[in-house]
Amino acid sequence: MLSTFFLSLLALTNLNVSASPLDARSIAARSTKPVVATWYGGWHATEGFPLSSVSWNKYNTLYYSFAETTRDVTSLSLTDSDGELLPKFVSEAHAHGVEAHIAVGGWTGSIWFSSNLATAKNRTAFVRTVVDFASKYKLDGIQFDWESPNDQGIGCNTISVYDTANFLAFLQELRENPKAKKLTLSAAVGLGPFFNAAGHPLTDVTGFAKVLDYVAVMNYDVWGSWFPTVGPNAPLNDSCAASANQQGSAVSAVKTWTAAGMPVDQIVLGVASYGHSFSVPPSDAFKSHTKKLVAYPAYNASNQPLGDSWDNTGGVDVCGVYEAQGGTFNFWGLIDNGFLTKEGTPADGIYYRYDACSQTPYVYNERSQVMVSFDNVQSFAAKGKYIKDTKLRGFAMWEAGGDYKDMLLDSIIDASKCS
Ligand SMILES: *[C@@H]1O[C@H](CO)[C@@H](O)[C@H](O)[C@H]1NC(C)=O
Ligand SMILES: *[C@@H]1O[C@H](CO)[C@@H](O)[C@H](O)[C@H]1NC(C)=O
Ligand SMILES: *[C@@H]1O[C@H](CO)[C@@H](O)[C@H](O)[C@H]1NC(C)=O
Repeated sequence: MLSTFFLSLLALTNLNVSASPLDARSIAARSTKPVVATWYGGWHATEGFPLSSVSWNKYNTLYYSFAETTRDVTSLSLTDSDGELLPKFVSEAHAHGVEAHIAVGGWTGSIWFSSNLATAKNRTAFVRTVVDFASKYKLDGIQFDWESPNDQGIGCNTISVYDTANFLAFLQELRENPKAKKLTLSAAVGLGPFFNAAGHPLTDVTGFAKVLDYVAVMNYDVWGSWFPTVGPNAPLNDSCAASANQQGSAVSAVKTWTAAGMPVDQIVLGVASYGHSFSVPPSDAFKSHTKKLVAYPAYNASNQPLGDSWDNTGGVDVCGVYEAQGGTFNFWGLIDNGFLTKEGTPADGIYYRYDACSQTPYVYNERSQVMVSFDNVQSFAAKGKYIKDTKLRGFAMWEAGGDYKDMLLDSIIDASKCS
C-alpha cells in the first residue's frame, strides 16, 4: 500500500548514484554462478524441520531467517528465530559446501531499518553492526529484506522519504568496508523497484546493481485475502490475464526491474512452496450446472480458513494489532490436509484447476468450501523453464521446510538447469 501522506511531500530528487571507486572492482569480482537457494525459518527447527531435514546437497545458498532490526543501531535480534541455532546452521552449511547467509529484516523485522540508516553516523554504525555480525557467525553473505523502503510495511515501521537513498548510501559504504569484501550481498525485493522520495518505484536502479550481487524478487503473496476474488499466490505471468487480474507476476517483475537497469543475471526468482486459502461457497466455486472450477471466484472474506499446522492461529503482531490466521498451506500441508495425494496430485473428491496464464494450480474441497491457490511440480517446472529461457540468475524458495520430499525443488532444478 502506498503511503499517500508521503506521496504528497516534496518531490525530492532521486538518488545520488555517483560511482564509487570500488565499483569496477566489485563488478569484476562478482560471481555469476547460478543461485540455487532457499530460506530457512529458524523458528521451524523445533516444529518438524530441523537442520538435518534440509537437502543441503541440492542448494548452494541458504538464508537464515531472520535477524531483525532493533531500535539500537548497534544490534540485530535473533530472539524470534532461535539464535542458538544459527552457529549450527552455519557449520552444517559449510560442511556441505553451501554458502550460509543471514536474512536481515523480514515482514516483522524491518521496523528499525529506516532509523538505523537515517544519518551518515547511523549508517556507519549499522555497517559495523552488520560486518561484526557476519564475522561473529562466519557468514558468507547478507541479504537485506527491508519490507519496504519508504513504505509502511507491517504498519509501524519507522519510515522516511529518504529511505531508498539512505539504503543505497549504506550499501555503498558496506561494499567498501574491507571486512565485507568477501560477502555476497543481496536484497529480497518486491515485484517493482524501491520507492523514491515521491513514493514512486525507482526508474534507475543501476546504483543498486553495482553494490548488490543480486536481488531476489519475492514473487509470492501477490494475491491474498486483500483482493475481492481468489487469484494466484505466485503468478508466473499476468500479461495474458484480464486487465483487472494483472496484479504483477514474475514476468512483469523481471520487465520492470530490467527496464530500471537491473541486469537479468542479477535477478533471482523467489518461488513459493506454499499457497493461500479462501472460503468459497460452491455456488461461486463452480461454473453453473457443472463441477468445473471458476477462475477468480468471489470468496467470503470474513471466513478466512485456518491453514496447516504451521499457520499462525491469529494474535497480536509486533505493532500491537490483532491479525487473524494467515490461512497458508505449505505443499506438505496440502497433503496433510487431504487436498493432495502423497504424489502431489489432487486427492479423491478434490476439484482441481490449472490456470495456464499464471501457471497456477488450484484445489477445492467442496465440503469444507476451502479453495487454495498454490504451486506444484508443474508450476515449478514452468518457473524453472522461464528462469532458463530468460537467463535469470537462479531461484530462491520460501521456504526450505515447505516442500514435500523435494518434489518442488527437484522440479525447478531440473527445468531451470540450475545446480
Ligand atoms: C540513529 O540511531 C539511534 C540509535 O539507534 C536512534 O536513536 C536515532 O533515532 C537514529 N537517528 C535517526 C535520525 O533516526
Ligand atoms: C506472458 O503472456 C504474454 C501475453 O500473452 C505472452 O506473450 C508471453 O509469452 C508470456 N510469457 C510467459 C513466460 O509465459
Ligand atoms: C461468511 O462467513 C461468516 C463467518 O463464518 C458467516 O457468518 C457468513 O454467513 C458467511 N457469508 C456467506 C455469504 O456465506
